This record gives sequence, C-alpha cells and structure tokens, in this order.
Amino acid sequence: MAILATGGAGFIGSHTCLELLNAGYEVVVIDSLVNSSEESLRRVQELTGKTLRFYKGDTRDAALLDTIFTENEIEAVVHFAALKSVPESVKMPLEYYDNNLTGTIELLKAMRRNGCKKIVFSSSATVYGAENKCPFTEDMQTGTTTNPYGTTKLQIERIMTDTAAAEPDWHVVLLRYFNPIGAHASGRIGEAPGYPNNLMPYITQVAVGKREKLTVFGNNYPTPDGTGVRDYIHVVDLAKGHVKAIAFVLDHAGTEIFNLGTGNGTSVLELIHAFEEVTGVTVPYEIGPARAGDVAYSYANADKAKRVLGWQAELDVRQMCRDAWNWQKNNPNGYE
Ligand code: NAD
Ligand code: UD1
Repeated sequence: MAILATGGAGFIGSHTCLELLNAGYEVVVIDSLVNSSEESLRRVQELTGKTLRFYKGDTRDAALLDTIFTENEIEAVVHFAALKSVPESVKMPLEYYDNNLTGTIELLKAMRRNGCKKIVFSSSATVYGAENKCPFTEDMQTGTTTNPYGTTKLQIERIMTDTAAAEPDWHVVLLRYFNPIGAHASGRIGEAPGYPNNLMPYITQVAVGKREKLTVFGNNYPTPDGTGVRDYIHVVDLAKGHVKAIAFVLDHAGTEIFNLGTGNGTSVLELIHAFEEVTGVTVPYEIGPARAGDVAYSYANADKAKRVLGWQAELDVRQMCRDAWNWQKNNPNGYE
C-alpha cells in the first residue's frame, strides 16, 4: 500500500516524501516538474536510503492517473500539485484556474474511478481573508481572497467538502498552512524558487549576494514595529504534520480542517534580525510601500492539530533561519 504525492518534487512535497519514507510508507510521486527538479527526489532517496516511484506528468492527464492507480496500490493521496505564485496568478488567471482546479477535479475523478477516496490537500491560511481576526481557528467562516491563486485554494476546499458531503465514503483532510520556510537539516533539499516572491527566499538570496537588498513591504501596519506579522513554520515540522494527517485520513470519513502553524507571530523586521543573528550575515534592506493584498497579521490557533492529530511544531524561527541559510549557501543555484 502506497501514498501518492502529487507535486511531490516541490518544496513541501519533497520534505513530506522524506518524512513519509522515514515513517515506513511506500511513496509514489506524480509531478510535471513545472516548478521543480527531479534532483530533489534523487536526494530524498539518498537521504532516506529508500526508493520511491516517480511519474513525470500532469494531474490533468486522466490516462496517466489511471496508469498510476493500476500499477500501484494507492491507499491515500496527498495533493500538493499546484501553481503557487500570487503575482503570476494575477497575470495568468486562466492558467492558474486550469492547472489548480482542473488538475484537482481530474485527480478526484481518477481517485473515484480507481476506488481510492482518501485525500490530504495543501490549502493555505490565505482562505481566512482579511475579514477574520487572529489567531485564526478552523471553524471561522472563510474570507475573501485577493488573487486567483488564493481563490483556487478556497474553491478546491469547497469542491472537496461538497464531494465528501455527497459521497460519505470520501475521507478528506484540508491542511491550512501558514508560512512554511527553512529546509531539511542536511542542507540537501530546500526551496528553489527562480525569482522569490516570499520573504525568506528573498532574504537568503540577498544574504548570498544574488540580490542587492530586500524591500520591506510597508512599516505602517498596526503591529508593534509596523511591519507585517506572520506565523512562520519550519518545513520539516510541516512535513511531519502531513505524516500525522495521512494516518488520520486513513480512518476518518468526512472532511476535517487543520491549521498547520506554530501559533506565534513574527514581524518582517524580527525575521531579518533573527536571520542576521544566527548566520552572522547582514541583510541590507529598505522600507518600501505596502504590497497590495497583504494583511497586518496572520497567525494560527494550532490547538486542533495538537488535540486531534497529536502534532505540534517544535522548531523555532532561529532554527528556520539557520536551516534556510544552510540550504541556500550550499546550493546557491538551487538544484541546478
Ligand atoms: P512547489 O511549487 O515547490 O511545489 C508544487 C509542485 O507541484 C511542483 O513540483 C510542481 O512542479 C508541481 N505541479 C504543479 N502543477 C502540477 C500539475 N498540474 N501536475 C503535476 N505537478 C504539478 O510549491 P510548494 O511550496 O511545495 O507548495 C506545495 C503546495 O502547498 C501547493 O499546493 C501550494 O499552493 C501549497 N501552499 C504552499 C505554501 C508556501 O508558502 N509554500 C503556503 C500555503 C499553501
Ligand atoms: C504569501 C501569499 C499567500 C501565499 C503565501 C505562500 C500574498 C499577498 N500572499 O503570503 O497567498 O499562500 O505567500 O506562498 O502574496 N515581505 C516583504 N518583502 C518581501 C517579501 C515579503 O516585506 O520581499 C513581507 C510581506 O509583506 C509579509 C511577510 O513579508 O508581511 C511575508 O510575506 P510572504 O513570504 O510573501 O508571505 P505572505 O504574504 O504571508
């Protein structure tokens, strides 16, 4: 019996495949490599000393999905595959809706055809929108999304929830990630964006000399130092959360939602200073205008995952900075 990881070659997927293999699961990956490299999976196998099965292809390819379900005994699916750049989604909404929504619908139909109805989905804290007050709890009404990427997350949550309501033998877990950063302690796998849109990869690229300086997006938010506050979570903690979620989804029907965050907020300036302290590298920055669509605060109430899954984040922001830097300086050009 195996777990199918769609998008398993990506940042969160590769770390999760590693933890699943270490936990004794067989792992099968489908990834189009549109935003990743097969090298990440080679390194996952090297780090674990175990093998996984890789299919290069797209989750919109129904025939390929049938082949995968026929050639493997898939017990449950963990669905990472998506395009994830917020600014790109604003410029290319059709491509985002097609890839993320069609890719999910084809996957769900293939699962049903092949008698596998257990899925863990990569959602995002972005579904809480600006309407809700922190800390976010899973029972809050979802809010308004500000870009097509975020809208795909909200719509996929809805598609899965409706499907599980209509067909009670579906088991669905929606994981709302907060801000995953850091890398595996080995420095062999990590986040390899081309142009970074998110804060931590931007910091590490400035630190390694690939970019001149960081722009802090706004310092007039109603937060203690005026910069945006986020709930950064170590990607290894996040990956371990998936192992718990898989164990849960195997024997719980219906839909269950979990926040995967630490419950702690860190401002942009606090993160820069923590990075400088633990690495000894200065990160030049300037204050710029606020970015459209950003909120002042986003952090989780992470009690439900602790209570129900027995999972809680263990690694702090300093460890996230240390590991992100270890990855970046050993792999200045990612997997190239
Ligand atoms: P990533 O881009 O590193 O990984 C996504 C993977 O999916 C890539 O390997 C890509 O090649 C693959 N892919 C994309 N579309 C595909 C398709 N149609 N068929 C097959 N493969 C496809 O991103 P990540 O940071 O690892 O994110 C994983 C998931 O978590 C995504 O769904 C993302 O939206 C979600 N998420 C990420 C964050 C974050 O900050 N990284 C936060 C919240 C949610
Ligand atoms: C962003 C996305 C969110 C997505 C998440 C993970 C937006 C509006 N939100 O979240 O939908 O799920 O990434 O991919 O894009 N910052 C800077 N300078 C930078 C980059 C970021 O000051 O160069 C600040 C931001 O204003 C924010 C914080 O750093 O306060 C974190 O930003 P980021 O890493 O992009 O994550 P989010 O905005 O929380």
